[in-house]
This record gives sequence, structure tokens and C-alpha cells, in this order.
Amino acid sequence: MKTKHLNNQKETVAEAAKLLQAGEVVAFPTETVYGLGADATNDLAVKKVFSAKGRPADNPLIMTVGSVEQLRPFVTISDAAKKLMTAFWPGSLTIILPIKEGMVSMLVTGGLQTAAVRMPQNELTRSLIREAGFPIVGPSANLSGKPSPTTAAHVAHDMDGKIAAIVDDGPTQVGVESTVLDLTAAVPTILRTGAVSQEDMADVLGSEVIDGTSPKSLSADQTPKAPGMKYRHYAPDKDVFVFDPLDWSDLKEHLQTGDAVMADEALLKQFSEKKQPSWSLGNNLDQASENLFAGLRYFDDQENIERIYVQAMPNIGLGKAYNNRLAKASGGRLFEGPHAE
Ligand code: TXA
Ligand code: MG
Repeated sequence: MKTKHLNNQKETVAEAAKLLQAGEVVAFPTETVYGLGADATNDLAVKKVFSAKGRPADNPLIMTVGSVEQLRPFVTISDAAKKLMTAFWPGSLTIILPIKEGMVSMLVTGGLQTAAVRMPQNELTRSLIREAGFPIVGPSANLSGKPSPTTAAHVAHDMDGKIAAIVDDGPTQVGVESTVLDLTAAVPTILRTGAVSQEDMADVLGSEVIDGTSPKSLSADQTPKAPGMKYRHYAPDKDVFVFDPLDWSDLKEHLQTGDAVMADEALLKQFSEKKQPSWSLGNNLDQASENLFAGLRYFDDQENIERIYVQAMPNIGLGKAYNNRLAKASGGRLFEGPHAE
């Protein structure tokens, strides 16, 4: 299959909508990461997404919509869900809701009685989904286990020849996947951290929100409730190590041929004397999250690189999502400087 690259804004929506209606897979931009779209009501189309990604069948997919109207036939929207949608949609929040019986394919839900739903910020994508006329499934458009794609080129790298088209709307803005909130739990529970924070949601709901991803609430023998979170994720083939910025001078001494560094501008400024390959994480948490996956993918493709050392960020706001993705990419491995945990 020859994958079409669509980036002409006028014709893109019509052409991509036609492909989706024909049961084909089309990659689409969102503000978080690129997704792999297909008609969520067409099992044959949904199967193509699983096979393009190499994704295990027990890992359910997000239903992505262009309007709240498009959701009503499929899931029950509680008052709490309404509040969250009003406050954060379109945006980086995925909500788990009960499905209306028999209305959502078991392929999409992985056999669960719940579905994950999201309305992304990207306007091109929202008009595409409205034009198609049905919700589309929307897992990240990477091969299963690889870092999520934040540019159309990343998508092409993983998906060329496997899907019908890629809608290119430039690099994504947030860079890490949406927050996943389970509203079917007794107390609303975060299953995946993202740009919408625990505090933001508790404020809007006027009640408690639990962070189900923090080590306190998840013991080692417990299976995470978001099936996708149990797989080693976001990981390049190279060995990834997390370092504490306080260990920067030790790390600089330790670096050898085959090592690459991903760090913020402040650290990289003190790095000019070394010839080590480096990737800038920018000047703040937002920029670090935006640039994390692109840097991991960049070094993953460099034959002369064997190890990637990536700076940890303060564990606040978007830093929680950043550190979570980095922990997964590294398999929890730390550079053992004096400040390593
Ligand atoms: O930002 C995002 O959410 C991106 C963009 C493309 O929209 N999409 C994305 O999809 O990250 P995916 O499939 O890679 O991640 C969805 C996560 C997985 O961890 C999956 O297991 C979980 O949501 N999930 C989906 N349906 C669920 C359900 N019914 N109950 C619990 N977890 C669910
Ligand atoms: Mg994913």
C-alpha cells in the first residue's frame, strides 16, 4: 500500500474522510501526539489499526470524536463527565465512561463494559471526524512499544506502506499523551498522567480525584487498570538512563563514545567543551514534554549511539507526565550519581 501524505488543508479533510468511510486507516494530528484513525463502528477497519500497530488485542482503544453529539449513542454521559467535558474539551483529557449495552464493538473496548473517549484540540482533525460521520479509534500512531509520534515524519517512519494516509498538520504541541481519567471507579481515578492535572480536575468536579499511577496506590503485584499501562512503552531500542540534574557534573565525567545526552538549555550551556551528541529539552517543562519523544526517536535512529541519558524534571504539573513516560522509556534505569534515588 502506498501511504498518501495529505497536507493541503482544503482537500485534506474531504479526501481523508472518504478513506475513513471506506474502512481505511488514516493517521491524524492532535495537540498531544499523532493518532491512528479508523471507523470505530467498523470491526474490519479497527482490526487494521491493531495490525498496523502490532498492538495486543486486550489493549482497548480511545474513541475520538469531533463533537459531544457524536458520543451520545455509544456511552452514558454523567453530570461529572459533562462538567469535565465543558472545562477541558476540546483538549488533553480522555474520560472512561460506561458504554450503552451492545453499542461499542468489543474490539474497541478490549471486552470491557467501559470506553475511553476524547475530543482533541486540533481543528483539522475535529472537522475530519465530523465529516466522516462516526467516532474514530485513536491510539497513538507509533508501532506498539515505540515512543509516540509528535510529527508526521515520525508516523511515516513507523507506518509507511501500512496505512492509507497521514494527515500532516505540523508538530504536536503538548508532546505527551492525554490524561486518562476513569469515571467508572468509585472515586474518579487517573490511569495515565497528562497535561490536565489532578488538581485541575478536582477543582472542576468539586470532589476528590485519585492519582492511580502514583506508587502509593499501585503495588508491584497489581495490574494497572488501563490495560495499556502494563506494557513497556514509549521505549527506543537503545539503553535509556534517567539522570538527576544535580548529578550533571558526574555524568559529564562519565560520558563516553556511544553516549548521547538529552538535557535542558541551562545544562547544555555548560557542555560545550565535550563533543558528545546532545538534544535540547528547551527552557521549561512544557518544552521538555514537547521535545522528549522526538529526541528519543532521533537517537534511536543514530547507529553510533548506544546509550541515551535523559534529564529528570521536577515532579509537578506536566513534569509528572514527562517523568512517567521517561521512566517507561528507561525501564526505570537511573544514572547512578550521588543524587540518584
Ligand atoms: O493523547 C492521546 O490520548 C493519544 C492521541 C492520539 O489522542 N492517544 C493515545 O491512545 O494515547 P493509546 O491507545 O495509545 O492510549 C490509550 C490508553 C491506553 O493505555 C489504554 O489501555 C487505555 O487508554 N484505555 C483505553 N480504553 C480503556 C478502558 N475502557 N478502560 C481503561 N483504560 C482504557
Ligand atoms: Mg500509545
